[in-house]
Amino acid sequence: MNKIEHAHLKAGDQNLDLPLSTGTENEMGADISKLRSTTGLITFDPGYGNTGSCKSNITFIDGDKGILSYRGYPIEQLAEQSSFLETSWLLLNGELPNQSQLKEFTHQVTTHTMLHENFRGFLNSLPKSGHPMPMTAAMVSAFSAFYPEPESPRVLQETVIRLISKYPTLAAWAYKHSVGQPLIYPRNDLSYSENFLHMMFATPCEDYEVDPVIARVLDQLLILHADHEQNCSTSTVRLVGSSQANLFASISAGLSALWGPLHGGANQKVIEMLDAISEMGYTAQEFVDRAKDKKSQVRLMGFGHRVYKNFDPRAKVLKKACQDVVERLGISNRQLEIAMELEEIALNDEYFIERNLYPNVDFYSGVIYRSIGIPVNMFTVMFAMGRMSGWIAQWMEMRNDPDTRIGRPRQIYTGQTQRDWAPLDQR
Ligand code: ACO
Repeated sequence: MNKIEHAHLKAGDQNLDLPLSTGTENEMGADISKLRSTTGLITFDPGYGNTGSCKSNITFIDGDKGILSYRGYPIEQLAEQSSFLETSWLLLNGELPNQSQLKEFTHQVTTHTMLHENFRGFLNSLPKSGHPMPMTAAMVSAFSAFYPEPESPRVLQETVIRLISKYPTLAAWAYKHSVGQPLIYPRNDLSYSENFLHMMFATPCEDYEVDPVIARVLDQLLILHADHEQNCSTSTVRLVGSSQANLFASISAGLSALWGPLHGGANQKVIEMLDAISEMGYTAQEFVDRAKDKKSQVRLMGFGHRVYKNFDPRAKVLKKACQDVVERLGISNRQLEIAMELEEIALNDEYFIERNLYPNVDFYSGVIYRSIGIPVNMFTVMFAMGRMSGWIAQWMEMRNDPDTRIGRPRQIYTGQTQRDWAPLDQR
């Protein structure tokens, strides 16, 4: 495509010059912020698929080429060589930490893992059958009642540490509550991922020996989920924060947005789909045929992405991690076989090829989580654990951006035109 130098808009007899913004990877946007005040028009873009809501220097995605990078570093390099805490520092601060910065950050995160004891009562007031996702969203929102409002830079820094360090404890406690087991306290001598596995799987009767291969795969999963630019939950965090709601409230809203099955809930849906295929005795081919049939309302969960029209680079890393876990644990099950068959069939099927539908990150993450014993209803909670540092980085960028205004989209009204109220006996 030729480089665009100018953008003009002709609306009726008016000509409008639209200033262009160009990013460092040559992404271009036409600034339409004066469109309404000069022409009376707004843009109409349901689902915001073509709308840039901010300038950001955190994460870059080229969905056509299958590229994802954080602060310029390719996701494949970070997943292979970095740790989740190092990647979190990178997202939050813009650069990789030096040795002493990483040591201090790791120390801070691993020594703020305890929750206020009153959270035990909070959890006990919730039914055990509740989904852990709204439980953790409610608890994060309740942080505002336990900890000071993050106003000064110092308190904000403490808030960031609290969110990253306490979320795994919240998550594991929500799980323990749902299965009626005693809550397990964090162990600060373990790494971030090891500590989470400990809180999930240890009991007062039996310690849990963390397998380093599993802990490393979990760390990789957290890295891969850590940020993904302006997706539904991140945009929610920014939008809520744009009203100057505090960081806890904004993150809690992001957790609720992530819960939806078309977003972070998709990895749970992948496993439910695999279970359903297995239980109902479909072959992988029969299920793919159903997913292609528009009348069936069925979709191949874990396939397709709003942005990636190529292989999701995260899915490539996870495909390999999935194989590592399966080999390490010596697992073989029908769901796993079905997943591999579905992938093979869909990648060679005209319907999926024509529409650029490839496996996304959720296709493999669900299979990995299940293999390491994470229950299905915890999958989105795991996703959120990784995304926490990205949400915070995006929220801080939004707050520090002098161009931030309260988010407030417009609409095309399609309801009744103005009419007069009528008394009950005349309706
Ligand atoms: N199975 C079957 N057909 C699909 C699938 C799928 N998984 N995904 C898209 N299609 C089809 C649509 O029916 C549509 O076909 P048409 O052109 O004949 O009408 C076409 O592909 C385009 O689909 P859209 O829904 O318009 O694509 P959009 O970009 O809006 O949606 C989405 C992306 C929501 C991810 C979609 O692909 C989907 O529902 N996938 C399954 C759910 C999923 O895996 N979500 C996780 C996303 S990753 C994440 O949030 C971390």
